[in-house]
Amino acid sequence: MESEELRHRILKQHEALREQIRSLEVLAREVAEAEEGGDLAPALRRGAERLLRRLEAHRCFEDENLGPALVGADAWGSERRARLTADHAEQRRLLREVFTALRSPRVHPAVVVRRILHLTDHLKADMRDEEAALLDPAVLRDDVVGTDVITG
Ligand SMILES: [Fe+2]
Ligand SMILES: [Fe+2]
Repeated sequence: MESEELRHRILKQHEALREQIRSLEVLAREVAEAEEGGDLAPALRRGAERLLRRLEAHRCFEDENLGPALVGADAWGSERRARLTADHAEQRRLLREVFTALRSPRVHPAVVVRRILHLTDHLKADMRDEEAALLDPAVLRDDVVGTDVITG
């Protein structure tokens, strides 16, 4: 896969994630406004679990494809990959927190809502930073990405 295609695929995944995040935020706010979460709380839990699954797939895709492409791009590649890895580790930590809240029936819907909105804020900022720092055409260049490095 060439770096242009890789960038295009990641940006497309980001768009899909943003779309899903927007719907989840709407639902989270509705739950927050309803008394005790109303009937929407189960839908919020399901929606959040769907987002978390998609995120997991996205992170794996980036770890497998973007990481090696960055390393191959230039002398700062290893540092950039380290940043990607650190960002993903932080995402995993936050996600585990949200998962725990989602799966525990004793956690009040208001707390679930707060955790979800904190996570979605974090994810939106992460995608913005990732696009600026790691997906910029000056960083992820076509001429230096080996086709043997990336196949997926
Ligand atoms: Fe990422
Ligand atoms: Fe990403």
